[in-house]
Amino acid sequence: MQPTHRIVTDSYLLWKIIDSWVKCSIWARLGSLVGEYLLIVQTLKLHTAELHSRIEQRLPLMDAALTLNSYRETLAAYCGFYATWEFAAANILHPVLAAAVRERSKLPLLEADLAELNYSEVVEPLPSFLLPDFRQDAQLIGSMYVLEGSTLGGQLIARHLERKLGLKNGVGYSFFRGYGSQTSERWTAFKALAEHLTPPDSIGAAILAARQTFVAIEEWVCRDVATVASQ
Ligand code: HEM
Repeated sequence: MQPTHRIVTDSYLLWKIIDSWVKCSIWARLGSLVGEYLLIVQTLKLHTAELHSRIEQRLPLMDAALTLNSYRETLAAYCGFYATWEFAAANILHPVLAAAVRERSKLPLLEADLAELNYSEVVEPLPSFLLPDFRQDAQLIGSMYVLEGSTLGGQLIARHLERKLGLKNGVGYSFFRGYGSQTSERWTAFKALAEHLTPPDSIGAAILAARQTFVAIEEWVCRDVATVASQ
């Protein structure tokens, strides 16, 4: 009886060891995946939080007093910003990033919205020196973080525009509707891309580019807010 018992005990122990090893390695792998996954985007969020609060307060888009005219002027300023940004980003060499920039382009939406709202002024492009340069992939990722992240708040803004200005079905505000029901999915995909393409030693460059992007868009889009908001 004793040898059989020992065999059973030994196999049981062996099974327990393998089982706990498998579980440990699954958790360890999951833990490190979660850690890796959160690292870059959480870091960018942390280092730009005050700039997000500032622009959120300065943009007139969620104001109760928003008028169609002030909305159109803000949209035109966004259009000037994206015209310069997308032109600069088009030079990026990394094939995956270049495809992401093309596929996430917002300029056609802004142009269509302005046309729908009969905006006939010439759109002034953002001076390119206000943008971070995109020599490193991490700089583009930091900058894209700001623009792709803004699609989250865009959903709130779109609903406000519907209520306040009576816009509907995305006509005149397709830019803010952005990815619509796909917003969360597209944001998750962008975060995965950012994690994958930002090596730890270039996080500093990504943070700086994200901060410069927030400042550039604030300077450009909010520059005439005091005048425009009252129109
Ligand atoms: C009135 C204007 C705005 C409102 C109400 C707003 C609101 C929001 C909201 C509700 C979120 C989601 C927060 C979360 O789920 O944790 C968000 C995320 C974000 N917004 Fe805005 N936003 C505004 C303007 C902007 C602008 C102009 C930009 C930059 C161009 C911007 C960049 C971002 C970024 C980068 C995130 C992602 C933060 C993260 O989770 O890492 N937002 N915003």
